[in-house]
Amino acid sequence: MRSTAPPTLDVVVEKLRATRRLTEDLAATLAPEDQMIQSMPDVSPTKWHRAHTTWFFEAFVLGPHADGYRPVHPTYDYLFNSYYEQVGDRHPRNERGLISRPTCDEVAEYRAAVNRSLTELIDVADQDLLDAITPLLELGTHHEQQHQELLLMDIKHAFSCNPLRPVYRLGTAAVSGPATQPLTWIKISGASRVVEIGADGDSFAFDCEGPRHPALVEPFLLADRIATEGEWLAFMNDGGYERAELWLSEGWATVQAEGWKAPLYWDRQEDGWSVFTLGGTRPLLDATPVLHISFFEADAFARWSGKRLVTEEEWELAATTSAADEPYNDLAHGVLHARPPLGTAAGRVRQLFGDGWEWTASAYRPYPRFEPDEGAIGEYNGKFMSNQMVLRGGAPITPQGHTRATYRNFFPPASRWAFSTVRLAADVPAIEIVDVRSAAIEPVIDVHLGPEDLSAALRSDVIAGLRADQAHLPPKYFYDDRGSELFDQITRLDAYYPTRRERAILAREAVAIATASGADTLVELGSGTSDKTRLLLDAFTATGQLRRFVPFDVSEGILRWAATAIGENYPGITVHGVVGDFDHHLGQLPSGGRRMVAFLGGTIGNYQPTPRAQLLATLADTLEPGDSLLLGTDLVKDPRRIVCAYDDPEGITAAFNRNVLYVLARELDAELEPDGWIHVARWNAEEEWIEMHLQAHGPQRIMVPSLGIDRWFAADETIHTEVSAKFRRPRVEAELAAAGLQLTHWWTDEAEDFALSLATKP
Ligand code: SAH
Ligand code: TRP
Repeated sequence: MRSTAPPTLDVVVEKLRATRRLTEDLAATLAPEDQMIQSMPDVSPTKWHRAHTTWFFEAFVLGPHADGYRPVHPTYDYLFNSYYEQVGDRHPRNERGLISRPTCDEVAEYRAAVNRSLTELIDVADQDLLDAITPLLELGTHHEQQHQELLLMDIKHAFSCNPLRPVYRLGTAAVSGPATQPLTWIKISGASRVVEIGADGDSFAFDCEGPRHPALVEPFLLADRIATEGEWLAFMNDGGYERAELWLSEGWATVQAEGWKAPLYWDRQEDGWSVFTLGGTRPLLDATPVLHISFFEADAFARWSGKRLVTEEEWELAATTSAADEPYNDLAHGVLHARPPLGTAAGRVRQLFGDGWEWTASAYRPYPRFEPDEGAIGEYNGKFMSNQMVLRGGAPITPQGHTRATYRNFFPPASRWAFSTVRLAADVPAIEIVDVRSAAIEPVIDVHLGPEDLSAALRSDVIAGLRADQAHLPPKYFYDDRGSELFDQITRLDAYYPTRRERAILAREAVAIATASGADTLVELGSGTSDKTRLLLDAFTATGQLRRFVPFDVSEGILRWAATAIGENYPGITVHGVVGDFDHHLGQLPSGGRRMVAFLGGTIGNYQPTPRAQLLATLADTLEPGDSLLLGTDLVKDPRRIVCAYDDPEGITAAFNRNVLYVLARELDAELEPDGWIHVARWNAEEEWIEMHLQAHGPQRIMVPSLGIDRWFAADETIHTEVSAKFRRPRVEAELAAAGLQLTHWWTDEAEDFALSLATKP
């Protein structure tokens, strides 16, 4: 709701249109009769959702902002207002199923008419008006996405009341499934016990997700997957619904009053239990996550398991630091039901977004300093902050792009018709926490590069770079804290394939790599978050050879964070971090033991050939015979895919590139206009590299008074910021050989997008 950097109008409008279409698509397979049912007071008819989401734009965009706007029908304001007191009187909520008119066709016309009026308004709006309505259009889109999920929850409930058990979408109910994977406990801890929680206003979030604020989170254990139908059955068979001692008092009263014996949509058959889904009725499946349980049931199940529910702060910390890199099982995935976890995810938490909304132990209440927005829009979330519990994650019917780590869903504790589930959490034994704090939390960090050195190097590089005809700035300055965070977001972009490809190779080959290297010390250059590196650490731990981990990075903030997290997750090893610059401090790497140096992420490709040869030679010199280098290189492929990877539509890569200008402004008091520079990524076919530039949008001036720099850039003139070279095997092999290293292994992912090479110093 309060984006400081709102996306462009085009992006907002495109998403609005797609969302408006999707609502109609979701309703399209339903008969008009289906669309009228209100099977309980919480459920609204499909037709009502279609109309109410449309009314929202009339009430908040067209009415207040389109001159002389006449509502499509004078009574719709009464019929389709859901709960906005400040907008006026409304039709009683539990009588929504009595409304046969407007008909489904008339609702379709209503939707089309409002769409047209919105298009007209956007077409004629001046900048002031656009500034006023863009956030409302964005909110209306996210609001409609919430109703898409409700529409599916509601029709599922309506169909479940019909003995014919209608199917919403055929082919989505699995009839058999894999065996249950054992549950693994993931230890989660922040860099310190005080972590930052909540939305920071950089991208869309509902008002209740902010303000971002500190929260106290002790190290804790989180299950790597959500609970399954099989585990739920064990709870039931052990008298779960009959033992008062497992339940909160209000929960126990509800069990009695409602006669609960199983989750909603479970039916007892002669030969066992069946489960009703949007794809029809099917037998209970052991490994499939359990859905449609209330908070009370989730809580009782956790108590029965000897564990507890997670708090929302804990959940958010886990989701931001330890989420498995996996596709979300969301609405776009089309399964419409929870699935068993896919594959393994070494030390990461799976199924965080998409398989079910996870009940947390947290009450839905305002974050510190929360203030609802002005006017009726302020009623959106704030007034519901009593007697409800927070759920985190996302469901298989949540629209694509609607979930995020800070999202706070909420329902009353007895409610079961949402796609709700449970993930177990547990405390770390107190003694271990003390251990962790005294021993592992403080890894050794050598700092060879203080702020003074960085700023001296920055000054001399800026003088040289901004005086050159083709201006250039060296990429190491991208990585201040914000740069490191933006880079981390790049690695998650759909279009940015290298991280996923490299991770796939590591997942497959990590043990082979560990064995082939024979190393007891893993050094990592440009380690960043050391996220993928965990796959190597796991393999080196599994083979029993790992003693020491040495991350090396120019960015002190991210290095400290990663070193601390790894120290805690791998208590048996020594973590010895080094803050330094590849170009000056490779000689300072701690020696001893047999070392494998991992240089991942294609970072070597950010060097041009001459300095690259220099870097590899220096690195090879620091190695002892028998030490090895594990090198990640991106491979030459269709340039269109490469360009997409470096120019995402959300503008994250652009923000990353532009970040260097903020660094100049902050560190050198440079006077410049960051928004006056456009991110450009070009494929240079001759050199086989991607070139990134910042291109002046109109004439631009950069002044750095302390360095005597005052340069005007003509419109379209560029500053060259980075290359990312793409390789073929012969070149990698030759460059390694030139540095005195011998390639012994070459692994690629299945698509041959990315390669890992292992080379040894003879
Ligand atoms: N290895 C991670 C991160 C790659 S991003 C991955 O594969 O995803 C490149 C990393 O190299 C950043 O963390 C950045 O801070 C670091 N880096 C860039 N230039 C550097 C330099 N000159 N010296 C040391 N580290 C550098
Ligand atoms: N080394 C990686 C690559 O070349 C990551 C990277 C460095 C990057 N700078 C970048 C990615 C700028 C996107 C944009 O792909």
